[in-house]
Amino acid sequence: PYQAKVDSIIGLMTLDEKIGQLNLPATGPITTGSSKSTDVVKKIEDGKIGGLFNIKDPKNIYEVQKIAVEKSRLGIPLIFGMDVIHGFKTTFPIPLGLSASWDMEMIEKTAQIAANEASANGINWTFSPMVDISRDPRWGRVSEGNGEDPFLGSAIARAMVRGYQQDDMAANNTLMSCVKHFALYGAPEAGRDYNTVDMSRIRMYNEYLAPYKAAVDEGVGSVMASFNEIDGVPATGNKWLLTDLLRDDWGFDGFVVSDYTGIYEMRAHGMGDEYDVTSLALKAGLDMDMAGDSPNIKASFTHALKGALDQGGISMEDIDTAVARVLTAKYQLGLFDDPYKYCSEERAKNETYTQENRDYARLVGAESSVLLKNDNQLLPLKKSGTIAVIGPLAKANSNMAGTWSVSTDHQSSISVWDGLQQTVGNDVNLLYAKGSNVDYDLDLEKRATMFGKDIPRDGRTDQQMLDEALAIAKKSDVIVATIGESAEFSGESSSRTDLGIPQVQKDLLQALLKTGKPVVLVLFTGRPLTLVEENETVPAILNVWFPGSEAGLSISDVLFGDVNPSGKLTATFPRNVGQVPLFYNHKNTGRPLGNDEGHFEKFKTNYLDVRNEPLYPFGFGLSYTNFEYGELKLDKTSMSQNDTINVSVDITNTGDYDGKEVAQLYIRDLVGSVTRPVKELKGFQKVFIKKGETVTVTFKISVEDLKFYNSNLDFVAEPGEFKVAIGTNSDVALKNSFKLLD
Ligand code: IFM
Repeated sequence: PYQAKVDSIIGLMTLDEKIGQLNLPATGPITTGSSKSTDVVKKIEDGKIGGLFNIKDPKNIYEVQKIAVEKSRLGIPLIFGMDVIHGFKTTFPIPLGLSASWDMEMIEKTAQIAANEASANGINWTFSPMVDISRDPRWGRVSEGNGEDPFLGSAIARAMVRGYQQDDMAANNTLMSCVKHFALYGAPEAGRDYNTVDMSRIRMYNEYLAPYKAAVDEGVGSVMASFNEIDGVPATGNKWLLTDLLRDDWGFDGFVVSDYTGIYEMRAHGMGDEYDVTSLALKAGLDMDMAGDSPNIKASFTHALKGALDQGGISMEDIDTAVARVLTAKYQLGLFDDPYKYCSEERAKNETYTQENRDYARLVGAESSVLLKNDNQLLPLKKSGTIAVIGPLAKANSNMAGTWSVSTDHQSSISVWDGLQQTVGNDVNLLYAKGSNVDYDLDLEKRATMFGKDIPRDGRTDQQMLDEALAIAKKSDVIVATIGESAEFSGESSSRTDLGIPQVQKDLLQALLKTGKPVVLVLFTGRPLTLVEENETVPAILNVWFPGSEAGLSISDVLFGDVNPSGKLTATFPRNVGQVPLFYNHKNTGRPLGNDEGHFEKFKTNYLDVRNEPLYPFGFGLSYTNFEYGELKLDKTSMSQNDTINVSVDITNTGDYDGKEVAQLYIRDLVGSVTRPVKELKGFQKVFIKKGETVTVTFKISVEDLKFYNSNLDFVAEPGEFKVAIGTNSDVALKNSFKLLD
């Protein structure tokens, strides 16, 4: 609808102004690299900037917008992007945690609240959702995604895009969403951030691409290209990816932005000089260059596009195409009608970090926690007696929101200690000891420089801290050990090769257990960890991830049973790092193990030193109550291509609490023209079941659920036998079967 308007503006533009629209400089203190833009105001006046990102404060945004609109020759408004990843000021759990809620309505609402708050503060474009499938917890950004499963990941991608855009990007309280990082960013070799990705097309299509496509199908306005290479060509300059697949096959018609200095980084990838890489990017279908106009970066649209044009690597038409896409986005956002529509100090004051939003974040934090172990129903705790809260995360307010939370007011986030104090009143005697530092090994300072929110190292010796903790522990009836990763252990550029709790905290935990007091491990983490020792020794483990700005209240609600935990893992927890990558939807191989006990078998696919199964499988999570699954019922045992089959099961709450259960539908295609996974998630329902009651859960299976990409990359369902089960996690036996007829 905006074509004519866009064309007429382009007709008026100089080459510099066109290139300016493709320029998205880094401003402000939030940065993930060394790009620093200079003379921003002058450049805006000269029409050399299309938008700014991670600039804070509606007042500042208003002012720069005014310069663009009133002082630049054509008055084209700027677009304002930001990493609004898991909330704006009201901060929800890190995305991996949020995904563990398996609650699509809730996830959509978190995005809607984030959009409302961010748009009230001048932002109109968010670099979210990140939908990169990852099977490698060494990779620090596993915290920012939705885990390992493409089916669940697609549902979450849709929910997030809906939440941000609300089918109306022009509304004052919505944002344009940007799905990232396209594509395959979650599969770097050895889990090392930014490392090479290399995988077959058939794996891409069947196992990794679906969530990006789901976002596109949901109408996402923009796409961010990933840093990694695909088929040997960096995504930023990969025409197959950004044009053939994204636009021609999937029908995407928004604009594509680079991830930070992705264009410049193609030089280091070995793709040529500044003119080569800028041509490659533009020709591939990349429209906007993020962080490329810094004077020290020569390989960028700002600095090299003109040269590339002179050399004939690109044409004016190529530039116009990209400019048209960026201008169209500005029209879609309504910026040409009202460039200041997102800058309302009144809205910013009244609609940010409201009690209502914070109450919701408290609930979401609780719903995202995953109960990994609960021997003898140690949890929920009673609100009485003496509780010792021990561990370096207990009072770590600035860590509660977790990684990539650029708009959070970290100091006002609620720590476990604050949360317990607010909720137990005088009923409980609360004691505290820090117990240990977060770790010995990692260079805290380097890790924390950018965000400045790590946990300061204590001046005391380890022994002094431990002695204090043990003295406190001895006075208590129960110990709540607040232990795990600090926020910046995960996130960008935070890969690890050891997936354990840092040794100093492991030692603390074991010492606490030796006191003989019951210990509840409240585990903070941004990734799946290896917890064999803890699983063997600690009676109760509650994985809270990083719950967000209201963390302490969310955690308290779960610890005392005001919320019954219902979160389920969306990424497998391995036994040791050598098992990685470990995921539930693997192939069977020609030599699968013949026993379910995990005993070693020679000449079978397994290890000498560890069994194949994970410690906690995908989909796993306990409740304070028990759910019993009845027999699976199928309404028929065969279906034709345009038929459906209903599969149902009765789930009974046999425990003492009301609770929510995530029933999961798994299917296995027994024979295919290409090998098929041992099981795949094809449906899930989160149901509330009162204690003593039974609920029937039904899934309708259609031929769409049976489709996969064959070796011609056709999306087909092949006739034959399928195994099926509905279970409480992915470790469910697929006993029943049905046939798909010709
Ligand atoms: O959105 C992010 C991206 O996820 C990583 N690189 C920087 C971008 C903008 O901050």
